[in-house]
Amino acid sequence: MSPALNLAVIGTNWITNSFVQSAHESKRFTLTAVYSRKIDTASKFIDETPSIANASAVKTYDDLDALLADASVDVVYIASPNSLHYDHTLKALNAGKNVIVEKPFASNIRELNELFRVADAKDLWLLEAYRHIQEPNFLKLRDLLNDPAKKNEKFGPIYGASVNMAVYSSRYAKVLEGEEPNVLSLQFSGGSLWDMGCYPIMFTQALFGKPASQSYYPVIIRTGVDGGGHIVLQYDAKSSNQKDTFTVHAHTSKIYTSTAPTEIYCEKGTIRINGATGVTDINTVEFVPRGSKEAEQLADTNPEYTGLLNLTWEAKELGRIIVEKDRKTEASLRSLSRDVLEVMEDLRRQNGIVFAAER
Ligand SMILES: NC(=O)c1ccc[n+]([C@@H]2O[C@H](COP(=O)([O-])OP(=O)(O)OC[C@H]3O[C@@H](n4cnc5c(N)ncnc54)[C@H](OP(=O)(O)O)[C@@H]3O)[C@@H](O)[C@H]2O)c1
Repeated sequence: MSPALNLAVIGTNWITNSFVQSAHESKRFTLTAVYSRKIDTASKFIDETPSIANASAVKTYDDLDALLADASVDVVYIASPNSLHYDHTLKALNAGKNVIVEKPFASNIRELNELFRVADAKDLWLLEAYRHIQEPNFLKLRDLLNDPAKKNEKFGPIYGASVNMAVYSSRYAKVLEGEEPNVLSLQFSGGSLWDMGCYPIMFTQALFGKPASQSYYPVIIRTGVDGGGHIVLQYDAKSSNQKDTFTVHAHTSKIYTSTAPTEIYCEKGTIRINGATGVTDINTVEFVPRGSKEAEQLADTNPEYTGLLNLTWEAKELGRIIVEKDRKTEASLRSLSRDVLEVMEDLRRQNGIVFAAER
């Protein structure tokens, strides 16, 4: 394998900790620098990341320009609040750095198009960190559905799907106490659609393509964002890469939890998908043939990586794309990211949810 890429991180919450540990596990990256608004926070982050082999070699910065001027940094991973992704990514690209940005890429499609433009003009790598579409059990399902012969023989036409990602957030409790955490704030491009709904939408579009039309029925909470709701994605033979006509019901929430599995309804039976959290960390993909109670396991139940949040597959693949200069895969991931953000932006606008980034 080629030498590991030197990684710098922006944002020091638990997701960055998970990503760095997974990035180390993937052997594609070595953490070399941490940016935080406070040096003490950056140092604490390093202390609390057990996969760092040599803590004294990792540099800490509280000046973003200084981090981005560090010539040893190859790739910057950005896990700041959503509203800051655009500025942080633009700065990193303008400093000549490759960038991996946490989901969702940006507050709107206008920002995303500009980031793609700058990355292309500078011949840099720019990728969005969606972990669930890199998990082997997801890829196995996608390969089965996207091979017309296999799909028709085993499943037949698709008639519908119910895709779930609804988990109560302790940060909603803070809203009830009168606070406004970033993830549930219009100021920081928060809300359930942007934080959680992006997962079922990405899952659906990675399997079936861009819907012909979409709608969203949210519960708006005190801070003005959507706390959760029901998304309807409609496919017809033209829009669906499955050439079927069907409707997907996607469920997102940060104000209550759904324990329902994700299901895909086909002529010959039902595909049932269980993840540790909705459509992420997929443990089982079962097929229950029509009229049967017996489920056939389609997933690999003994995955290679077991750590933390299953981010290792994502880190491994994003690192591979950059090291192997795989522009084809980058372009297809970017196209998926753009299609998903377009749908999300439309759902948000239909409901009059306006982020501060747009006022
Ligand atoms: N892939 C996943 O499974 C997953 C899971 C969770 C979150 N995420 C994504 O990760 C990103 C971060 O989410 P989060 O919940 O960790 O966000 P957050 O706690 O609001 O902020 C993340 C980090 O950004 C910095 N920050 C916070 N408020 C800021 C402000 N007002 N101005 C500048 N910097 C600020 C902080 O780092 P410093 O104090 O060190 O500056 C903080 O640790 C989001 O895009 C989210 O969608 C992804």
